[in-house]
Amino acid sequence: MTHKIAVIPGDGTGPEVVAEGIKVLNAVAGPANIKFDYHHYDLGGERYKKTGETLPDSVIEELKQFKAIYLGAIGHPDVAPGILEKGILLRARFALDQYINLRPVVLYPGVDCPLKGKGPQDIDFVVVRENTEGMYVGAGGFHKHGTPDEVAVQTSINTRKGVDRCLKFAFELARKRNKDKKLTLVAKTNVLTFASNLWFRAFEAMAPQYPDITTDYAHVDATCMWFVKNPEWFDVVVTDNLFGDIITDLGAIIQGGMGVAAGGNINPEGVSMFEPIGGSAPKYTGLAVVNPIAAIAAAQMMLEQLGESKAAAAVDGAIKKAASQDLKSMAAGKMGMSTGEVGDLIAKYATELI
Ligand code: IPM
Ligand code: MN
Repeated sequence: MTHKIAVIPGDGTGPEVVAEGIKVLNAVAGPANIKFDYHHYDLGGERYKKTGETLPDSVIEELKQFKAIYLGAIGHPDVAPGILEKGILLRARFALDQYINLRPVVLYPGVDCPLKGKGPQDIDFVVVRENTEGMYVGAGGFHKHGTPDEVAVQTSINTRKGVDRCLKFAFELARKRNKDKKLTLVAKTNVLTFASNLWFRAFEAMAPQYPDITTDYAHVDATCMWFVKNPEWFDVVVTDNLFGDIITDLGAIIQGGMGVAAGGNINPEGVSMFEPIGGSAPKYTGLAVVNPIAAIAAAQMMLEQLGESKAAAAVDGAIKKAASQDLKSMAAGKMGMSTGEVGDLIAKYATELI
């Protein structure tokens, strides 16, 4: 089976970690009888500086032909904030209708957790973040810009269709995970009496179709507290785009930091894009000190999405083995080995486990 993969290494440390992900994919390819056909795209800050282009329409059309997209990081110190993020990352999510942002929060054995008394048995949940609506639509504008009378308006767009398809994905995932079979809706119904109210009504309306799934609700502010105090309460969490953005940074730190957190921008009917969620880390660029585990875990999610569950399980096992036995820390510069050495080790373990 050949999988055609678009690779966007991007900015900063993106290319370094993507190289390790590809190393691991190539290591499992032979034993799992898979072929990868990679096509690299030079999208990112450097291309923007040279040509003014972010993600041209022609490239969007090309990306639609791939089975998946593997992304490193977007963000460049010489480019004003927002240009590349909106122009490349958000544009890809929207144009390819990747309406789910799937972010597992898993504490690997042996990884330091900042929460006192919590271990891998307590931190094992998935956040399903809506990825194409809400505050991210960019609906709004300025009035009397730059004057003392200035007004700024930014509106959260929530469509019933968009909410329903996200909830359906989350209910199905809770069933498929078969862990606690529990789905928690996170919103702010006590203040957002329109947007969160729509989410809540849609959630209640769908729940009877999933009698095997226990449903729960938490306000987003309280969720931040529970993630720290009782992370073991969560199995699958579903929420809107901005709340999902915020709570998954908290999720990342309780699972050991940005060096391990991976995510998938999923279009269940189209092309999905997998990325480490940590960003381009400009200060570490070229030093070979950043942790490639997040990028390798993103590659593992991609294998899962491609239906290569045997290879995905081997990579998952290899990450866990390296994290628990070999890495001194998950933090950049403190791993006790280089970015490339971590990749070598995980590639080796993955071929042993397959
Ligand atoms: C993320 C990031 C992006 C987001 C930024 C870079 C636009 O924080 O993937 O979580 O807000 O979605
Ligand atoms: Mn974020």
